[in-house]
Amino acid sequence: MDVMKNYIFAPSILSADFTRLGEEIKACEAAGADWIHVDVMDGHFVPNLTMGPFIVEHLRRITALPLDVHLMVENPQKLLKAFAQAGASSLTVHIETCPQVEAVLSEIKALGCRAGLTLNPATPAERLLPGLPLADLVLVMTVHPGYSGQAFMPEMLPKIATVRHMLDEIGSGARLEVDGGISAQTIAQVRDRGADTFVAANAIFKHPDGIAAGIRTLKSALGA
Ligand code: DX5
Ligand code: ZN
Repeated sequence: MDVMKNYIFAPSILSADFTRLGEEIKACEAAGADWIHVDVMDGHFVPNLTMGPFIVEHLRRITALPLDVHLMVENPQKLLKAFAQAGASSLTVHIETCPQVEAVLSEIKALGCRAGLTLNPATPAERLLPGLPLADLVLVMTVHPGYSGQAFMPEMLPKIATVRHMLDEIGSGARLEVDGGISAQTIAQVRDRGADTFVAANAIFKHPDGIAAGIRTLKSALGA
């Protein structure tokens, strides 16, 4: 069996050249990307300010790949419908922003999207527990959210293993995604802790030999 079939590679367009976004996404598709990761930041939950449903709507027109939307925003519930209507495939919310996590995940599913749950590096894995049975995807952040190009936090490796165990314990088929500092040097370590879905911005869009080389390098680091 092709081992790569179990893995999802999700380039984060946060490091793309936005003057050529369409071409860069086509290059990701041609190089075998599985999803496109879209980092939504509100200038409150994180210091940076990025994209809204308007960008997702345009992305939806230029690619058939699933759009994996990571909501780094306060009150994500207010925005779910707009992102779903714009064409998001997954909507991932931070547990720190969701006092009513079950209601939020249920609403995401009702909107026809994959329901994702994530947490900051400082938030313990146990905080995920109430939402875990409803999650289709759990994202472990391996940098402090806000910017691409930051250094991977190796102290998050045990947390990935803990979340893998928590998912297995409840028989969940949720994907286990990692985001932040994923590179040829770090990807095998997160895979070995149980991650199966890999977000990368700089390692793909800033690879000196281009996007296809960036994706190929990540895949080959997993032994393809
Ligand atoms: C960070 C974002 C990430 C970021 C990853 O807040 O959630 O998706 O774009 O960038 P790299 O892969 O460069 O660390
Ligand atoms: Zn992200």
